[in-house]
Amino acid sequence: TERGLVDRHGRVATDLRVSLTDRCNLRCSYCMPPEGLEWLPGEDVLTDEEVVRLVTIAAEHLGVREVRFTGGEPLVRRGLVTIVDEVHRAAPQLELSLTTNALGLARTAPALAAAGLTRVNVSLDSIRPESYAALTRRDRLHDALAGIEAAAAAGLSPVKVNAVLLRGVNDGEAPELVRWALAAGHELRFIEQMPLDAQHGWSRDTMVTADEILAALEAAFDVRPDDEARGSAPAERFVVDAGNGLRGRVGVIASVTRPFCGDCDRVRLTADGQVRNCLFARGESDLRGALRDGASDATIADLWRRAMWPKAPGHGIDDPTFLQPARPMSAIGG
Ligand code: GTP
Ligand code: 5AD
Ligand code: SF4
Repeated sequence: TERGLVDRHGRVATDLRVSLTDRCNLRCSYCMPPEGLEWLPGEDVLTDEEVVRLVTIAAEHLGVREVRFTGGEPLVRRGLVTIVDEVHRAAPQLELSLTTNALGLARTAPALAAAGLTRVNVSLDSIRPESYAALTRRDRLHDALAGIEAAAAAGLSPVKVNAVLLRGVNDGEAPELVRWALAAGHELRFIEQMPLDAQHGWSRDTMVTADEILAALEAAFDVRPDDEARGSAPAERFVVDAGNGLRGRVGVIASVTRPFCGDCDRVRLTADGQVRNCLFARGESDLRGALRDGASDATIADLWRRAMWPKAPGHGIDDPTFLQPARPMSAIGG
């Protein structure tokens, strides 16, 4: 069998995250400025066919088992359903998922499920209309909630809901988010904010830490660690009992204070066809050029393996020499 995506620290990437666009219909304050960013030129963005070809190569030659489509916001990409459908036909063994803000998902969820998507993770930082609008700079909470319900109804479940807590903005809302998610049967995960915002405004003191999140949950609920093995999953899981029969799992993704880089099994492909071996990688490897020059599957697979090998052992956020990557999260893919 062929060699997979192995790095010099012995990790093997089997989880491919594909950004389908750097654009988004929200303007979350921790992600983008209100006016948006300078988007990638259209001709630089991989076509639907190019995305399908690269993902198929990853599945057939490189041992990739799971593919997550991300953005920006992947639902704003016209060809999304077609891409999912064609990837599913070409490599039916792949588990296909989506990370989305759920705007417009109410309309597309059935088609995505029919095309072969299995799950969705939804970014939702508040269930209060005013906080949601302040955070995302768009008054569209109802649209997001409708999208989440439609995804669950279409069998794209369990829906995982990702919430970033920001000090002084929504950090008091953790208990109500938990009650809402438990009642609806969604798996909520609280995420530590990482230094990946376009404005370079991240700082340690504004970041709400996993310890603070847990303290807030323990003050409100009965919280116990979950015994299930975590593997390479980013979330530490807890069983939360909120009384009145409300009980279920809640996760905390402590990327900054308790990094899981040693168990990382991820690799990323940007919307413009660059491989990133880490969210925080300083460099990228161009697959689009090779693809457009007519390279064979074997040649592309080889370039991809070479891109993985030098992957850094960790994100290095605590190093005095740490530099934020040139691309923000919205252009890398979450
Ligand atoms: P599941 O397989 O459904 O658990 O997916 P996931 O949690 O990996 O995916 P999702 O897109 O929902 O990402 C959730 C959060 O995990 C992101 O918002 C990031 O904060 C964090 N995350 C995702 N990938 C990485 C990564 O490579 N490194 C680090 N440090 N954090 C990551
Ligand atoms: N740190 C952590 N998570 C982030 N997200 C966006 N920017 C950041 C950041 N700087 C989250 C979104 C979404 C996921 C893809 O990434 O809220 O849930
Ligand atoms: Fe859009 Fe996601 Fe950035 Fe919010 S965090 S602006 S939903 S890309």
